[in-house]
Amino acid sequence: MKLIIATIKPFKLEEVREALTTAGVRGMMVTEIKGFGSQSGHTEIYRGAEYAVNFVPKIKLEIVVPATMADQIVETITKTAKTGKIGDGKIFVLDVEQALRVRTGETNEEAL
Ligand SMILES: Nc1ncnc2c1ncn2[C@@H]1O[C@H](COP(=O)(O)OP(=O)(O)O)[C@@H](O)[C@H]1O
Ligand SMILES: [Mg+2]
Repeated sequence: MKLIIATIKPFKLEEVREALTTAGVRGMMVTEIKGFGSQSGHTEIYRGAEYAVNFVPKIKLEIVVPATMADQIVETITKTAKTGKIGDGKIFVLDVEQALRVRTGETNEEAL
C-alpha cells in the first residue's frame, strides 16, 4: 500500500475528490493547512514583503491505496489540480506498513 500526500489549491478540492472517486478511491483524509513552496508564498498573494515568508492556504489530501493504483491516482490528482500557475501544489508518495478497519478487523488492502 502507498500513502499519497498531496497539497492542492482549495478551490480544486471538489473537482479532485470527484475525479478520485471515479478512479476508485474509497476514502481519504482532508485537512485545511497553510504552507509555502519555493516562492515562499510571495507571488501568490501580493508583491512586496520580500523577506517574510507568507503562508498560503492549501488543502492537504492523504490517501492510502493499493500500491498498484498509486501511479494512476498520482496522475489523476496532477491532471485535475493543475492550473499551470504557481502554487499548484506537490505530491509525495510513501510506503504504508499496515492498515486496519476498526469495525471489522479487516487488514491491509481489505481495510481500504
Ligand atoms: N518540500 C516541501 N515539503 C512539504 N510540503 C511542501 C514542500 N513544498 C511545498 N509544500 C507544500 O505544498 C504547498 C504548495 O507548494 P507549491 O507552492 O506549489 O510548491 P513550489 O512553490 O515549491 O512549486 C505548500 O503550500 C506547502 O504546503
Ligand atoms: Mg510555490
